[in-house]
Amino acid sequence: MNNPSVLAHFFILLQFFFAQVQAQGSGPDPYAPVYTSCPKDLSIRAASTGLSDTEKSWRDLHSKQIIPELKSYLTLANISGFDVQQYINQINGTNLPIVGLSISGGGTQSGLGGLGIWQAYDARNPQAIASRTGGLSQILTYLTGLSGGGAITVGIIAANNFSTTAQIRTTTNFSVPYSNPTGNFTQFATEIFENTGAKAEAGFPVSVVDPFGQFWGNWLPQNLTFANYSDLANPKNNNSFALGTAPMPIMVLAEVVPGKSPEIGKILYPGFNSTNGFNLTSYEVTPFEFGSWAGGRVQAFIPTQYLGTNMSNGKPQNDSVCAVGFDKLTFIQGTTACAFNAWLIDAFYQIPIFAKRELEGRQQQQQNATADIPIPPGQQDNQLVVLVNQTAVNFNQSFNDSLWGTYPNPFQDYNDNMKNVDELLLIDGSLTGETNPIRPLIIPERHVDFIIVYEASSDSKYSWVNGTNLINTQKSASEGNIPFPQIPDVNTMVTQNLTKQPTFFGCNASDSTPLVLYLPNSPWSGYTNFSYMQDSFTNNQLNSVLDNAYQLATYGNGTVDANWPACLACATIKKSLKRVNITLPPVCTSCFNLHCWNGTNSTANITDANTNPSLRLNSSVSFQQWNTTVWGGNSSSPTSNSSNGTEKDEKDGSAGLVKPLGTSAFAVVMAVLVAMIMG
Ligand SMILES: *[C@@H]1O[C@H](CO)[C@@H](O)[C@H](O)[C@H]1NC(C)=O
Ligand SMILES: *[C@@H]1O[C@H](CO)[C@@H](O)[C@H](O)[C@H]1NC(C)=O
Ligand SMILES: *[C@@H]1O[C@H](CO)[C@@H](O)[C@H](O)[C@H]1NC(C)=O
Ligand SMILES: *[C@@H]1O[C@H](CO)[C@@H](O)[C@H](O)[C@H]1NC(C)=O
Ligand SMILES: *[C@@H]1O[C@H](CO)[C@@H](O)[C@H](O)[C@H]1NC(C)=O
Ligand SMILES: *[C@@H]1O[C@H](CO)[C@@H](O)[C@H](O)[C@H]1NC(C)=O
Ligand SMILES: *[C@@H]1O[C@H](CO)[C@@H](O)[C@H](O)[C@H]1NC(C)=O
Ligand SMILES: *[C@@H]1O[C@H](CO)[C@@H](O)[C@H](O)[C@H]1NC(C)=O
Ligand SMILES: *[C@@H]1O[C@H](CO)[C@@H](O)[C@H](O)[C@H]1NC(C)=O
Ligand SMILES: *[C@@H]1O[C@H](CO)[C@@H](O)[C@H](O)[C@H]1NC(C)=O
Ligand SMILES: *[C@@H]1O[C@H](CO)[C@@H](O)[C@H](O)[C@H]1NC(C)=O
Ligand SMILES: *[C@@H]1O[C@H](CO)[C@@H](O)[C@H](O)[C@H]1NC(C)=O
Repeated sequence: MNNPSVLAHFFILLQFFFAQVQAQGSGPDPYAPVYTSCPKDLSIRAASTGLSDTEKSWRDLHSKQIIPELKSYLTLANISGFDVQQYINQINGTNLPIVGLSISGGGTQSGLGGLGIWQAYDARNPQAIASRTGGLSQILTYLTGLSGGGAITVGIIAANNFSTTAQIRTTTNFSVPYSNPTGNFTQFATEIFENTGAKAEAGFPVSVVDPFGQFWGNWLPQNLTFANYSDLANPKNNNSFALGTAPMPIMVLAEVVPGKSPEIGKILYPGFNSTNGFNLTSYEVTPFEFGSWAGGRVQAFIPTQYLGTNMSNGKPQNDSVCAVGFDKLTFIQGTTACAFNAWLIDAFYQIPIFAKRELEGRQQQQQNATADIPIPPGQQDNQLVVLVNQTAVNFNQSFNDSLWGTYPNPFQDYNDNMKNVDELLLIDGSLTGETNPIRPLIIPERHVDFIIVYEASSDSKYSWVNGTNLINTQKSASEGNIPFPQIPDVNTMVTQNLTKQPTFFGCNASDSTPLVLYLPNSPWSGYTNFSYMQDSFTNNQLNSVLDNAYQLATYGNGTVDANWPACLACATIKKSLKRVNITLPPVCTSCFNLHCWNGTNSTANITDANTNPSLRLNSSVSFQQWNTTVWGGNSSSPTSNSSNGTEKDEKDGSAGLVKPLGTSAFAVVMAVLVAMIMG
């Protein structure tokens, strides 16, 4: 931050604002949760009891709704030699295909790419009908996201009642920066801190995730800025999810555990390594429940609607004091994208803790609870520090207290691990080394047959992907004895084109192992490795992002493999066909021969051509040409495409925040800086 007077102005303004909030008392604020009496039966449910009754009845409803959609989709896909009607006649709620779509972390890169995948498989999209892939979105049972894929893809689709991407573009103006919607950041900051103040006054813990989460409200429909996640399940709201005609939206969160998680400079992080992934708790949020299925320190759930309630031993501490409205959609969006710890560790110590880089030998002592996080000299003006510090100062808490998505712990005293643990400190789901939100989809209770994994994590050189995150999920699943396909090593992923085109994994695995389709962000019609921090998009840019995702999802719209639409449909029904004893048509067998990883690891050396590919559908167009003609990029602008052709900045975490920014106004600095949604 180069302009102390603007900064001082901001501080004064916030303080003025808090004085006002206090003077006004706690009037009704749409962001603040409220207390109500508890429902009679409110309790923590053990994961060992299987799917919740609410999810079971939703699945019954949903399966009835999707059978006609399945029939239309298979008819369109036109698998030769396959009798759609004969199959549909045998299909019911227990043998129909269960399909999940997983959208990775990676800021706007993954979040907008995810909207492109949704559209490429949407029967309401004429282009998807033309490419015979339209209808797959209609039969999804689950749609999962974390970080950018959660805050953007899942959050926006769910809030728009699962409408089309084209329709969403009429409600959300993506050319408006989500972190600074009016251009007057002071005004916006005032509003979001006011809301945070009302939540604090109502007696709930607050943190930087409260203001930060509200950034995402800017891309939600206006009447849902203060919606609750659990509202989606309320049939009164007529949401397609509640009516069973849309998939269940799930977001994934990680945590840090004071006294257990490792720390760097007193900043906690989950400490993922090659053997402990399953031991790090992976929380999921659905419109019905919040909790964790397997692994980690708790395997239990609370109804999402009552998040924020003080619980003990599985019951409310006081039957007449239950919280509702804590589960703001924006707060969950903010939590799944909350990586302040990673950004600050990177900025302070140049140590990247996302899966993208190694951390061998760097883990240090455990947290000394008596001392706050030291801010290194010169970092006071780092805008991430300012945002956290302002939260701390205004709410009279430590910097450390302000850094996490702070949730009253529903599982307090529920088991030994949770003895006297009154708060959960939740963060970006990708910080456990798994940026693909696959865990909710491999829970055996859900019987998911087919998982489509769209990944745009920037975990590789040049901001493409190299498979590490998918490999990490496989390791964690294996530690927990959860069936998951074998995934080859990074070398094979990168040199055998498995990070550049759709590939199936698990084609010959056991019946209980889901089939996985990996859709890695890669350049088909556009160089979509733009910076995950870009927070606004012109129509042309968005068109390009969506088209690239479409070309990836449709394997070049039939130009690379004309059999792809049928192949995708084969994968969708493969396990269901087996359940009803119908033999896989030959066209499916040959498609799997072509598109499944063949089980061989490669020893080829990774070359620059492997990691810096040109456009699959137009290889003569270089990044530079494309950037000028299509993207409208300007290499000196912070919103231009990230470094294709030049090696990616190694300090792409929050380190970028402390670079001199010339005469930038505070608003612009804040907007760019706090837009650091990674992972
Ligand atoms: C579903 O159909 C199968 C035969 O395809 C049958 O065995 C099973 O009982 C049916 N399930 C239900 C719930 O109707
Ligand atoms: C920005 O908003 C603040 C607070 O609402 C207001 O005082 C200020 O005049 C605005 N600045 C501009 C340039 O409009
Ligand atoms: C929000 O507004 C949209 C468009 O006006 C409307 O269709 C929808 O029902 C509203 N949603 C809620 C929850 O009020
Ligand atoms: C991984 O971290 C765990 C603690 O979570 C530790 O016990 C284990 O030794 C570590 N393993 C490796 C290979 O570093
Ligand atoms: C994972 O947790 C289990 C049970 O608490 C423990 O036995 C095991 O050592 C842990 N593994 C690692 C790598 O931390
Ligand atoms: C692949 O990603 C991992 C983890 O992000 C990283 O350590 C490794 O250097 C990457 N390899 C290549 C070739 O990009
Ligand atoms: C914790 O940190 C404080 C302040 O730096 C120091 O005085 C104290 O000795 C430390 N305690 C432990 C147990 O390391
Ligand atoms: C936090 O803000 C307060 C009040 O503006 C200031 O005095 C303090 O130096 C700041 N702390 C850091 C670490 O920036
Ligand atoms: C990978 O794709 C490129 C470009 O389409 C092609 O030239 C190359 O032969 C492929 N490599 C393998 C191992 O399939
Ligand atoms: C996809 O291919 C069809 C048939 O060749 C063509 O009509 C359509 O324009 C293509 N769509 C896109 C988005 O490339
Ligand atoms: C399918 O075949 C298996 C083994 O041959 C048999 O047990 C099962 O009942 C059959 N299922 C249906 C739906 O016909
Ligand atoms: C697997 O595929 C790779 C690359 O396409 C090829 O080089 C290798 O020979 C194949 N292995 C087998 C056993 O077919």
